[in-house]
Amino acid sequence: MPDAYDDVEGGDQTEVIKAETVVDGVNLVEQEELSVVQLPTAKTAFEKLQSDRKTLPVYPYREELLRAINDHQILIIVGETGSGKTTQIPQYLHEAGYTSRGRKIGCTQPRRVAAMSIAARVSQEMGVKLGHEVGYSIRFEDYGMLLREFLGEPDLASYSVLMVDEAHERTLSTDILFGLVKDIARFRPDLKLLISSATLDAEKFSDYFDSAPIFKIPGRRFPVEIHYTKAPEADYLDAAIVTALQIHVTHPPGDGDILIFLTGQEEIEIAEETLKHKTRGLGSKIAELIICPIYANLPTELQGKIFEPTPEGARKVVLATNIAETSLTIDGIKYVIDPGFVKMKSYNPRTGMESLLVTPISKASANQRAGRSGRTGPGKCFRLYTAYNYYNDLDDNTVPEIQRTNMANVVLSLKSLGINDLLNFDFMDPPPSEALLKALELLYALSALNKQGELTKVGRRMAEFPLDPMLSKMIVASEKYQCSDEAISIAAMLSIGNSIFYRPKDKQVHADNARSNFHMGNVGDHLALLKVYNSWKDTNFSTQWCYENYIQVRSMKRARDIRGQLEGLLERVEIEKTSNPNDLDAIKKAITSGFFPHSAKLQKNGSYRTVKHPQTVQIHPSSGLAQVLIPRWVVYHELVLTSKEYMRQVTQIKPEWLVEIAPHYYQLKDVEDHLVSKN
Ligand code: CDP
Ligand code: MG
Repeated sequence: MPDAYDDVEGGDQTEVIKAETVVDGVNLVEQEELSVVQLPTAKTAFEKLQSDRKTLPVYPYREELLRAINDHQILIIVGETGSGKTTQIPQYLHEAGYTSRGRKIGCTQPRRVAAMSIAARVSQEMGVKLGHEVGYSIRFEDYGMLLREFLGEPDLASYSVLMVDEAHERTLSTDILFGLVKDIARFRPDLKLLISSATLDAEKFSDYFDSAPIFKIPGRRFPVEIHYTKAPEADYLDAAIVTALQIHVTHPPGDGDILIFLTGQEEIEIAEETLKHKTRGLGSKIAELIICPIYANLPTELQGKIFEPTPEGARKVVLATNIAETSLTIDGIKYVIDPGFVKMKSYNPRTGMESLLVTPISKASANQRAGRSGRTGPGKCFRLYTAYNYYNDLDDNTVPEIQRTNMANVVLSLKSLGINDLLNFDFMDPPPSEALLKALELLYALSALNKQGELTKVGRRMAEFPLDPMLSKMIVASEKYQCSDEAISIAAMLSIGNSIFYRPKDKQVHADNARSNFHMGNVGDHLALLKVYNSWKDTNFSTQWCYENYIQVRSMKRARDIRGQLEGLLERVEIEKTSNPNDLDAIKKAITSGFFPHSAKLQKNGSYRTVKHPQTVQIHPSSGLAQVLIPRWVVYHELVLTSKEYMRQVTQIKPEWLVEIAPHYYQLKDVEDHLVSKN
C-alpha cells in the first residue's frame, strides 16, 4: 500500500476552461471550411486536427445539439467518454455565436490536469494561442475556480453558457455548483446550462434539474472481453506488471496499447521503474515498450506524451490514476488492466478526521475502466480480482464526495455567498448532517461564525482565501502577531503538499542531511518550511540551490506563485504585510490561532493524545521534529492514516497558548496537568 507520502489526486477542484470572444477578428469557422477544401492532399497538422474533429461521435449531432441548446435553458448531455463532449461542444457554441459581445463560455473540469490539457487541445484545434481566446483557470487548493468566481460575480453575468462537465464524477465542487447554478438559472433565463456526463446517472441529473431534457450522443462502443483472476491477488501492483508484460510478449505491438489503472504517483513510479527494469532484461527479444505515466502532479511538459501516437513497431503502456477513467481519453488502447482500487478520501464527522485510503472501486467505475479498451476496436479488460468479488463485494456506485468529506471549506464559501440555511440547501445528495454540524462547529471555534451562525468579520476575511479555513484563520490572525509575511509563506508551502523535499533512493543520507539543516534549533515543521522558502528567496530563487538542498524546484515555484496570490489577497482584506522573522513565538502563535483545534499532548508511552476528541496519534516519520526532540505539546497540520494515525507538519507550542488564544475552546483544566507537573 502506498504510504503517507503519496499525493491526493486532485479530486475536488473545479477548474474552468474559458472560450472567449475572438479578439483579433480571425474567423475560425472559415479556416475550418478551408481545410476541408484542401483535403486530402498533404495535410498540415492543423488540417489534420480539423478533419479529426469531424470523425468524433458528437460531430453528426452538431446542428441538432445546437438546436436543443437554443430551445432549452438546461440540457443534460450524455455521451461515452471520448465522444468529443468536452473538446467540441464549447467550440460549437463559440462558432454559433455564444461568445459574441464579450461573453464567455465556461466549461468546468473536476481535475486540474484535465483542464490544462483540454484547454491546450481546444486552442490547438482553434488555431489560437492558449491564454488568448481559450484559457484555463486553475487554483491551488481544494475547491474550484468557478466557485470562487461566484464570490465576485454571483450571477455569472459574463457567461453565456456554463457547461458543468464530468458531472458523473460527483466531486464536491460539482455538487455545490449544481445547487448554485440551478438557482442562478431561475433568475438568468439567458444563461444556458449544460450538464455533461459519461452515461451514468443521467435520469438523476434530469430529475434534479426540474426534468431537463437529456440529449444522448450515441457512442461507438466495441465489445470488451472481461477477464477475471481465479483467486484474489496478494500484490496487485506486481500482478498488473506481469499481466502487462504477458500481453506485450504474446501479442504483436501493432495490436494495441495497454492502460493500467493505479492509485497514485508513488505506485505509478514504482510500476514505471519495474517495467523498465524487466524489459531491459528481455533486451531486443521484445518490441519496444513506451511507458507513459499520467497523474495529477505530473509536470505539464510530460503530460503531452500520452497523447503522442505510438510509433510503428512499439507499444505504449499508460500508467494512469483514475484521471484516465473518464476525464482523459487516450486513443489506441486495446487492453485495460484494472486492479480494482482507487485512492479515495473519506471523512469521519465524529472525529473530524479526513483520510485518504486505497479503497475498492465501484461496479460503475469498473465498467468505465473496462470501456476504455473498446473505443477504437474490440478490447480486453483484465480485472485483477475475482468475478465473485465483482458481483458481491463492489458497491454499485461510488459515494459522492460530498458525503465523505470535511465540509468546513464549503460551508464558509456558501455562507459568504449569503446562503445561510445550509440544512435546506438544494443538494442533489445532501451531506450527512453531522458533517455540516461539525463544519459549523469548527467555523464557530475559529470565530468565523457567531453564535447565530452568521459570518463574522473574521469569517468574511477568511472566505477570501482559497484555503482550508484553519490556514485562512492563521493568516488572518497573523495580523495581530505582526507576521503576515511569514504566515503566507507557511500557508503557501503547506499548500504544496508533500512534494517539497526530494529523496532519491541512492542519496537518502545526503538528502536527509540537507533537510535536517532546515530543522536546526528544533523549530518544528512549519518554521522549517518557512526557512526553506526564505533561504530559496535569499538565493534569488536559484534552481541550483534547490538541487544542492534536495528540494524540488517545481514545487517551490508553485509555492512562490501561490504566495504571490495570497499576497494579493492580503491587500484585498486589508491586512498589512508585516514581517517578524526573529520572534518565533509570535509566528507559532499565529499558527496556533488557526490550528488550535489540532493540538496533541505527549503520553508517558511516547505516543501523543489529541486534546479534543482524544485519540492516540504519532508524529509522522517525515517530520523533522521527531528526529531532534520530543515536544510535550504540539499542534499539527493534518492527520493521515497509513499504518498508524500520524500527525503531519508538527510544531511545538506552549500549552498556555491554547487557553490564551482560544479561551472559548480550551479551559485551564485541559492544559493544567502539564502546568502542574512542571513544578
Ligand atoms: O469529453 P469526451 O470524453 O466526450 O471527449 P473529448 O475529451 O472531447 O475527446 C475527444 C477526442 O479528442 C478524443 O479522441 C481524444 O483522444 C482527443 N483529445 C486529444 O487528442 N488530446 C487532448 N488533450 C484531449 C482530447
Ligand atoms: Mg470529457
